[in-house]
Amino acid sequence: MKSSWQREIETVNEALDSYLPPATTFPPEIHQAVRYSIFAGGKRLRPLLNLATAAVFDVPERHALPTACALEMIHTYSLIHDDLPALDNDDFRRGRPANHKVFGEALAILAGDALLTLAFEILATETAAFFPAQTVVALQQEVSKAAGMAGMIGGQVVDVLSEGKPLKAETLEYIHRHKTGALITCCVRCGAIMGQATKEELCLLTSFAQKIGLAFQIVDDILDVVGDEKCLGKKTGSDVSKKKMTYPALYGVQQSQVMADKLLAEAFTAVEYFGERASKLKQLANLLVKRQQ
Ligand code: IPE
Ligand code: IPE
Ligand code: MG
Ligand code: MG
Ligand code: MG
Repeated sequence: MKSSWQREIETVNEALDSYLPPATTFPPEIHQAVRYSIFAGGKRLRPLLNLATAAVFDVPERHALPTACALEMIHTYSLIHDDLPALDNDDFRRGRPANHKVFGEALAILAGDALLTLAFEILATETAAFFPAQTVVALQQEVSKAAGMAGMIGGQVVDVLSEGKPLKAETLEYIHRHKTGALITCCVRCGAIMGQATKEELCLLTSFAQKIGLAFQIVDDILDVVGDEKCLGKKTGSDVSKKKMTYPALYGVQQSQVMADKLLAEAFTAVEYFGERASKLKQLANLLVKRQQ
């Protein structure tokens, strides 16, 4: 995937670097901890989705870039906290030791807090330089809802509380649609909001995003069973060891893959209306579901 999206990934990385204080800023420990996880080589799927959606509406890339970076900051914060001993207790992330293994739990918690807070600062400053206040407020609403208790946090809470419990389809779908689907959907919706999409367009793109968001987490679960650790940059078998409620645990790997593929096909249908304009979005959706990484 790196090659076809390399330019966009580099643009996102450069922008992230410019939004983060230099590592030597006092107190340097927090800047080092934040930079360690931000520049650990994530796939940048969320900013790419945001930029690709904005491009459907011809929003200039540099105008969408701060929002795309804010979304990646929130995602990275969620990974740092997700790996903490109190949550998934995972020691590896993005091909290197987890943040808390290097900087300690206190700094890892604070690095996550810092990234979440900085994301909203970027929306209020950098994004606000390109869009009217009304649009910025709409974006802040989207992002806060998606990252909060009605979205990602709600999903993480049910994920943690469901460990070791009997598998239940309804609970499982809630977990995945919230812990992962909400932020992915938010990336697409924010692109559409920056592009002044109509209600109908926003509705179609939301449906597309919800489907790929769920498919993405199903694939994450599958890769935890059959993936390659080197390629993934994190340990496999983590879900089984913690008795997590996952798609493979409930439906088996094969059936889970069928479900992910079906969601991808439905996502494609949802954006047919946009024709060629949605080709980059479809490419990303495909990558997201077919990935080995
Ligand atoms: C991993 O997300 C965590 C989930 C929400 C499943 P990614 O697979 O997008 O992780 P990075 O950003 O590439 O490291
Ligand atoms: C992570 O889900 C979801 C969030 C970080 C919000 P997982 O716990 O399955 O992600 P990995 O497998 O650790 O990357
Ligand atoms: Mg988790
Ligand atoms: Mg985890
Ligand atoms: Mg996982």
